[in-house]
Amino acid sequence: MAIIPIRTMPDPVLSQKSRRVKNIDGSIHRLVDDMLESMHAASGVGLAAPQVGITMRVVVIQLPEEEEIVLINPQIVRRTGEIVGVEGCLSIPGYVADVRRAAKVTVKALDRDGKETRLKGEDLLARVLQHEIDHINGVLYIDHLDSLDELRPVEMLQPEEASDPLAEY
Ligand code: NI
Repeated sequence: MAIIPIRTMPDPVLSQKSRRVKNIDGSIHRLVDDMLESMHAASGVGLAAPQVGITMRVVVIQLPEEEEIVLINPQIVRRTGEIVGVEGCLSIPGYVADVRRAAKVTVKALDRDGKETRLKGEDLLARVLQHEIDHINGVLYIDHLDSLDELRPVEMLQPEEASDPLAEY
């Protein structure tokens, strides 16, 4: 396993649409392991393959006190409700913004063994799922803002606004 440096804005790889994984082979397992290690090293709660420079549809998530989640070729099949919440991204260090997202989502994906899985998320998990699936479509949370003026430096966050430590993904 290896820690891979996380790509940050304005690296063009972050705007590319990732390819579907056709075969879950040893190279994909290595990618997943490296992504998990890189996410943990960055204290992130989620990471998408383009953030380590690989344009494949692979996502890892690790919420505090929860099991690791590995999603290959994930797709949102259902969205309900709407909620605005503070969001940060490991690829946009130092900033956060309020982003409107679906309140709940259902995601279909393959797990690391290639088995089809369905996952329902709400609260932080719903937000991380939408954020990471955006990443594999070449979309960043700032693309959902009307203006980059909505970005705020992390230091300006009010304590009640953010999880502690701030969840970034
Ligand atoms: Ni991100």
